[in-house]
Amino acid sequence: MSKLTLSPAWEALTAHRKKIAATGIAELFAADPSRAGRFSIEAGELVLDYSKHRVDAEAMRLLAGLAVQAQLPRWIARMFAGDTINSTEARAVLHVALRSGEATFPESGDVMPAVRGALESMRRFVGEVHGGVLKGADGRAITDIVSIGIGGSDLGPRMLVRAMRKFRKSGLGLHFVSNIDPADLDAALVALTPGTTLFIVASKTFTTAETLANAARARAWLEAGLGKSNALSRHFVAVTANAAGAQAFGVPPERVLPMWDWVGGRYSVWSAVGLPVALAAGMNAFEELLEGARAMDAHFRNEPLERNMPVVLALLEIWYVNFFGAQTRAVIPYSEDLRDLPAYLQQLEMESNGKRVDRDGNEVDYATAPVVWGASGTPSQHSFHQLLHQGTHFIPVDFIVIGRNGESSTGQGALVANALAQGAALAFGNPAPGAPHKALPGNRPSSTLLLQRLTPRALGALIALHEHKVFVEGVIWNLNSFDQWGVEHGKNLARTLLPRLLEGGDTAGLDASTRALFARLRKRD
Ligand code: F6P
Repeated sequence: MSKLTLSPAWEALTAHRKKIAATGIAELFAADPSRAGRFSIEAGELVLDYSKHRVDAEAMRLLAGLAVQAQLPRWIARMFAGDTINSTEARAVLHVALRSGEATFPESGDVMPAVRGALESMRRFVGEVHGGVLKGADGRAITDIVSIGIGGSDLGPRMLVRAMRKFRKSGLGLHFVSNIDPADLDAALVALTPGTTLFIVASKTFTTAETLANAARARAWLEAGLGKSNALSRHFVAVTANAAGAQAFGVPPERVLPMWDWVGGRYSVWSAVGLPVALAAGMNAFEELLEGARAMDAHFRNEPLERNMPVVLALLEIWYVNFFGAQTRAVIPYSEDLRDLPAYLQQLEMESNGKRVDRDGNEVDYATAPVVWGASGTPSQHSFHQLLHQGTHFIPVDFIVIGRNGESSTGQGALVANALAQGAALAFGNPAPGAPHKALPGNRPSSTLLLQRLTPRALGALIALHEHKVFVEGVIWNLNSFDQWGVEHGKNLARTLLPRLLEGGDTAGLDASTRALFARLRKRD
C-alpha cells in the first residue's frame, strides 16, 4: 500500500464516502436549501457552481485536508519560485511567467526579459502582417496563415482562434494542420494561393515527425507555385526552442520566435505558440487573454484551499476518481465557439496526469487521471446524454455556460436553458412511477462553470483554471504532471517501422502481430 492510501486523510475520506453514498443530491439540497450559495466560488469573470455534487461541508473539509497533507501550498510556492519540479526532465515549470506582470520573475532566475522580448516580436510581426507590410515571394501581401504543429503546438491556438472568433480583427484566413496524413495539409491548401500564404511552423523541439513532414510538404507546394528561390523563406515563421533546427529547415533567424525548456508544450499557448491567436484577434486581445490567466494565477496563489477554484475542481475530481470509482469525466461546453475545448483539455489533463508511477518511480495503488471527453451541447444531448442520464456508468460532468453572447438573444437563452436543464435532470432525475424505462435516477453530479461573456480575459482564466487544477491533482497523486514519457516509445517505434514499410525492409525483430500486418499490407501492393 502507498503512503497516500494509508494516510489518515485518505482513511477519513473513505469513511466519509460511506455516509455520502447513502445521501442523494436531492437530500443534500433538502437539508440545506442555501447550498447553491455556499458551494459556489467566484473568481474574476468565472463562477463555479458545485452545489450539484455529492459533497457536504465535511467532505470538502476532508478533501482540503488531503491537499494539506500533500503539502499543496508548498508545491504551489515551489512552482512559482521556478524550482525544478519537472524532476524527470530536470526542468522548472514556468508557464505562469508567460503571463506574469512582474518586472522580474521568478526570484531564482529572471525570465521576464526573454518573455517581454518574445511578446514584442509577436506584436511587431502581427503588425506587419495586419498592415500588409509583410510580403510573399512575389510581392503580394499575406492573406492566409497555415499553422503547422501538433499536440501542445496546435490544440491551444486552434481552440482559442475558434473561441475568439467574435473578436476577429483581421480578414486573414487561419488554417490549422496537425496530422501526418497528407489529406490534412491538402485540404487546407486546396483554396489557397502560394504567393499570399504564410506558414507558421510551431514545434518546441523542431523534431516532431508530423510537423516536419507537413512543413516539408508546405515548402514543396510553395516551390511548385512560385519556383525555387531564397525568397520562399518569407513564407515561413517558426516558433521553437530549437532555433538551429528551424534555421536548418530554412527559416531566417529573425523569423524564429522563441520557446523555452521551462514551458511544457501543453502549457505553451501563452507563448509565441499563441501567434495564430494574436494574428486572428489582434495583439491587444492576446494580452487580455494573458491578463485573464494572470488573475487566475493570483487567485490560485492567494485564496484559501476551500475557496480556491482550481483546488476545489481538483478535489472534486479526486473524490469521484478515487472514492467513487469514476473512470471518465465529460466536459460539455454550451457554446459552438468552445467546441474544441474538450480536445484541448484531453491533452492537458491526460498527457499530464495519465501516469501509473509516482514521482519516485513507484507504481501507484490508486487511480489517476480519468478519461476526459465531451462535445458541444446541445448536439451532445442528441448523442450521448441518454447514457449520462440512464446509463450504468458514473460520469461526473462539467457544463460550461456562457451567460451572454453578443446582444442577448433568444438563441443564447435557449442554449443556457438547455445547459441548466441538463444539470438539473442529472442531479434530481425524474421518478416516472410505473414506467422504469422513462425514469431518470438522478443523483448524478455536475459542475456549472459560468462565464458571463466569452471574452479573451474570461478565456485566459478558464484555461489557467484547468492548468492549475491538473497541477493540484498531480501534487495529491504524487505525480510529475509535466513529463510525457509514455508518448516517446510509440514515436520511436513508428520511426523504425516507416523505412521497412516503404522499402519493403526486413521484418525480423518485429513482434508477431506487426509482422503479420506487414505481410498482409505487402500482399495487397
Ligand atoms: O505528444 C507528445 C508531444 O511531445 C507533446 O507533449 C507536444 O505538445 C507535442 O508532442 C508536440 O511537440 P513539439 O512542439 O516539440 O513539436
